[in-house]
Amino acid sequence: MAKIVIDGGYKLNGVVSISGSKNAALPCIAATLLTSQPCILENVPEISDVEVMFGIIQSIGGKVERLAKNKYKIQTQKISSSSLPRDLVRKLRASILFLGPLLAKKGQVKMAHPGGCILGKRPIGTHFEALEALGVKFQQNRLFYTGRVKRLKGAKMFLDEVSVTATENALMAASLASGKTIIKPAACEPSVINLAQMLKKMGAKIKNEGTHTIEVEGVTTLSGCQHKINADEIETGTWAIAAAITKGQITIKNAPLENLDAILYKLGQIGVRYKIENSNLLILPSNNLKASRIQIDTWPRLPTDLQPQLTVLVTQAGGDSLIHDWLYEKRLLYTQELVKMGAQIILFDPHRALVHGPTQLSGREIKSPDLRAGMAYILAGLCAQGQTIVGKVENIERGYEEIEEKLQKLGAKIKRV
Ligand code: EPU
Repeated sequence: MAKIVIDGGYKLNGVVSISGSKNAALPCIAATLLTSQPCILENVPEISDVEVMFGIIQSIGGKVERLAKNKYKIQTQKISSSSLPRDLVRKLRASILFLGPLLAKKGQVKMAHPGGCILGKRPIGTHFEALEALGVKFQQNRLFYTGRVKRLKGAKMFLDEVSVTATENALMAASLASGKTIIKPAACEPSVINLAQMLKKMGAKIKNEGTHTIEVEGVTTLSGCQHKINADEIETGTWAIAAAITKGQITIKNAPLENLDAILYKLGQIGVRYKIENSNLLILPSNNLKASRIQIDTWPRLPTDLQPQLTVLVTQAGGDSLIHDWLYEKRLLYTQELVKMGAQIILFDPHRALVHGPTQLSGREIKSPDLRAGMAYILAGLCAQGQTIVGKVENIERGYEEIEEKLQKLGAKIKRV
């Protein structure tokens, strides 16, 4: 298992370019199954979650061709099986995104409970409810879920959770259902909008994406398309924080400026100095970071996927910061390792913690429990005294492209072993 070794205390300086967003890319890859024609996806991040999604497509008869770096042609002329390989499905929760397309194209699907990190193993009831509303009958035994439907039928559905991927599944299925579907309350995250834009290029009739009420008028076939995955707002926030905690100055290129409102608002409140110049985001040296309340919520508020990184930021800010993240059951447990690095954090319960800053962190050896907490440990290592070794880097590589190359280019003393 790979580890990342960081010698902390060096200012980051230079230019970094933002990759395509993992969470925008994964549903678009699944959506290619909705047509037998080729789809060309650009700005696809070359990360392990994307590889697993490609592996699943190939296992059911699809072809994936790398046309250039970050550019792929995907075509599934004939779906050879509606049963998804258990070993790949267990690798990531986003494999659930194949439910909608397979039911729409084949009328059936068989898959194991999707896996991923501890956060990814949570229930998937909202996905089932959304697809059941369109006429799917699900059964489950100890090993598999199976779903069947003759033809999906549009319906008005109410989602118990404003779930991002359940909204995406509903959107993909409804695009090929007969009649009209109303998805409510739909998630509004940029990845949902990005998927809707791709589906529209394929011929889907979708209205009001980006709001809590999405309307879809089903069509009988969808065609191929060329589509660019949007840049990753979470990666942007992560590098901005990396610069701020090392008091560095960096230029972030290809940042999705339209999707950064909540993140830039919070960074500004904490005292991270930034400006936007020629469509680049410049992070200026920040010397006076101040505590702030980190209230996580669904879009357009602060995203949970940036919460661990923001927590590291406020360990360097003067005063008491309350972190409140209600989304995942065990989301804040990673803070225990930050405490061992010297952070002053009181964990009230798995959803609320108080961080007292600023504190000088010191390096240690830690294992990354999941993607975002793992990245938070790398950030902590960048501003810690001494050496930090972050293990289980595989968890972090699921969502960040070229982590050590990008950080090395910014002057971080970081290597992979
Ligand atoms: N939740 C609620 N009520 C809601 C909305 C969400 O309780 O109204 C809870 C869910 O029960 C769950 C959590 O919030 O525990 C996340 O829910 P959601 O179903 O929206 O998550 P997801 O669709 O499975 C996507 C991203 C995650 C990201 C979440 C939340 C993809 C492939 N995954 O997951 O990304 O954390 O939305 O924004 O898009 C990551 O990139 O690190 C990651 C885990």
